[in-house]
Amino acid sequence: MNVLGINGSPRGKSSHTDYMLQPFLDGAGEAGAATETLYLKDLKIKPCTGCFSCWLVTPGTCILKDDMPGILEKVLDTDVMVFSTPLYNCSMSAYMKAFHERQLPLVTPYVVINDQGEMAHPLRYPEKGRQKWVLISNAGLPETKHFDVLLENYRRLTTLHGGGGHAELVGTILKGMGGAFTKAPADPGSLDWFFDACRKAGGEVVKQGRISPETQEVLDRPLFDLSPEAYVDTLNSFLDLAFQMIKEGKLEV
Ligand SMILES: Cc1cc2nc3c(=O)[nH]c(=O)nc-3n(C[C@H](O)[C@H](O)[C@H](O)COP(=O)(O)O)c2cc1C
Repeated sequence: MNVLGINGSPRGKSSHTDYMLQPFLDGAGEAGAATETLYLKDLKIKPCTGCFSCWLVTPGTCILKDDMPGILEKVLDTDVMVFSTPLYNCSMSAYMKAFHERQLPLVTPYVVINDQGEMAHPLRYPEKGRQKWVLISNAGLPETKHFDVLLENYRRLTTLHGGGGHAELVGTILKGMGGAFTKAPADPGSLDWFFDACRKAGGEVVKQGRISPETQEVLDRPLFDLSPEAYVDTLNSFLDLAFQMIKEGKLEV
């Protein structure tokens, strides 16, 4: 089984998003999958120009010359896609958005009525089968509702193409206050329960095809047991400290 992690953070390997993605992939690897991470910021992926050449003139092939053709080959060979993006303006990063736009060659322009009774485009390579998708995202603010638009976006993407459910969303890891992974906790081991759950989730997707309800419940727990007011105080005190440390040259961002 091939599991492909897509990191859409402009901060790449030092991103909070990667703190969640890598344990998930470790768990998938321990369960026997072949894993790989693509850091979109290090690849040349131009935004779609909307010319529809990949549908009408050179079916299945985009006219833009960049890294995307090789990436699409990988995507077609992948069983589990792990989309990992920081939450930007309530949605995915621009890197991740461009990546999704450029997958247009993987569907045909024809229209069918899908399993949900909606119009959709069939997959160009249906023999490659139905992928499983996992969504990982990291946000600045702790409340879960900030992920509502992103989550709905991915739910729509799984059903839009492929004549009905070309992919299945088999679990999510959505966590605010990502700064806590690197900077905030006084005790660096205090979030191990969360990273352990990320690792377990990766193993479950490989072995059972989805994140179990038990592990999902752990992943959905807040990182800290704080009231909204205490969160605001903590975040603002942290900012004051950060400003001070940057001024004194003690903190690099
Ligand atoms: C342009 C921009 C937009 C952002 N939009 C949101 C947002 O809508 N909601 C939120 O909670 N955090 C938002 N954030 C904060 C990031 O989600 C947060 O810093 C996250 O930890 C970054 O993850 P990364 O280190 O993986 O890139 C935004 C940050 C930037 C730079």
